[in-house]
Amino acid sequence: MKVDDFLKMYVSELQELRSVEAQLIGALPGMVQMAVHPELKHLLETHLEETRSQQDRLDEILRRHGAEPREHVDQSMQAILREAEKWAGMIQDQDLRDAGLIASAQRVEHYEIAVYGSLARWAKQLGLDEDLRTLHAILEEEKHSDENLTGLAKRIVNPDAATS
Ligand SMILES: [Fe+2]
Repeated sequence: MKVDDFLKMYVSELQELRSVEAQLIGALPGMVQMAVHPELKHLLETHLEETRSQQDRLDEILRRHGAEPREHVDQSMQAILREAEKWAGMIQDQDLRDAGLIASAQRVEHYEIAVYGSLARWAKQLGLDEDLRTLHAILEEEKHSDENLTGLAKRIVNPDAATS
């Protein structure tokens, strides 16, 4: 597809972002299974539900633009998740692995925060107020999820990893 205007570029990036959420929906159940700290399991499970809802909301935006949700596969996300899986597979100690899982989950969150941030600003520039509200709401959810992971790492998971 040739991208030659801002709206097309915006929609195409939305499709990439939709692929990010879809890939995360595929990866999170495995991370939940691997996690040992119950608080981490719970956070990841909650985020899986949230991610499903985010994907639905992106689908809704894409439908409004008459765009096919599954047109793009985000390769950066593929690489981040492949790396996370490989890394988790190399760590035997459960406490260390949980600390690694949090680091991988936060890598994903930061990537999402970057993309949602850009797309929200693009939506604002393009005067797409309804899109902007949704993207901004999801951006806040991603930030919140990132903060929860930081809190859990500091309070419980990293201290456990340090003594294992
Ligand atoms: Fe998300």
